[in-house]
Amino acid sequence: MDGNGRWATQRGQPRQAGHKAGVRPVRLCIEQCARRGIAALTLFAFSSENWGRPSEEVGALMSLFVQAMDDELDELHRSGVKLRFIGDRLSFPVRVQSRLVGAEARTAANTGLQLQIAMGYGGRWDIVQATRKLAARAASGALRPADINEATLSGELALTGLPEPDLFIRTGGEQRISNFLLWNLAYTELYFCDALWPDFDEQGLQAALDWFAGRERRYGLTATTTGGA
Ligand code: FPP
Repeated sequence: MDGNGRWATQRGQPRQAGHKAGVRPVRLCIEQCARRGIAALTLFAFSSENWGRPSEEVGALMSLFVQAMDDELDELHRSGVKLRFIGDRLSFPVRVQSRLVGAEARTAANTGLQLQIAMGYGGRWDIVQATRKLAARAASGALRPADINEATLSGELALTGLPEPDLFIRTGGEQRISNFLLWNLAYTELYFCDALWPDFDEQGLQAALDWFAGRERRYGLTATTTGGA
C-alpha cells in the first residue's frame, strides 16, 4: 500500500493525511476480495523499517490503526472475515497490541476471507523467527537438522496454513518487494501500478485481477508439463 505520503504532499498536507486517506481503499479491497470469493488477503500496513520514520508519523499511524480497528471490527466480524496480524507485535504500544489480540480472538471462528495485516513485519524478520524456532527444536532434540526442509521452515513462517499468494500488488509506482513476504512470493505474480494508494479503487483492483488472469504460471516447468495452465 505505497504512496500515502506522496498523495498528501501533492495536496500540501502532512503525510499523516495520506495514511488517513489510505483507510478507504483498505476497506474497499477487503470488501471486494470477500465478494469475489478470494480466500486470503494480506496487507502490508507497517514494515519493520517503518519504525525509523519521524515519531510524529509513527504516532499518527498507531492512532490510525487503533481507530480503524475500533471503527471496523464489528463490520469485519459480521461479514465473516477472519483476522490475523503478522509481524513482531511485541514492538507495538500496549494499546495497539490489545486490539490485535482482541480482534483475532473475536474473529477466530469465522470462515470467510482470511485477512492478514502485516504490522512490524519484514520478510527477513519472518525467516529469522522461523529459523530460531527450528533451531530451538533441534537443540532440544525434537528435530534432526537433516529433517529440516522447505515444508518445516514454511510451517514456522507467519503465513503458515495459508495458500501461497497468487498475486502481489504494489501501488505507488516503485517496482520492488521492500522486504514483504520474501519466502512466500517465490512463484507469485508481481503487479505494479502507478496509482498512489489513497487513489487505488475498484477499477485499479479489476485491472490487476484482469492482468493476473492472463498470466501463464509455469512454476519452473514448461507450458506442456504444467498442463498448459
Ligand atoms: C506506505 O506509503 C504506507 C504506509 C507505511 C502505511 C499504510 C497504512 C495505511 C494504508 C493506513 C490504513 C491501514 C490499515 C490496516 C487500517 P508511504 O508512506 O511510504 O508513501 P510514500 O512512498 O508516498 O512516502
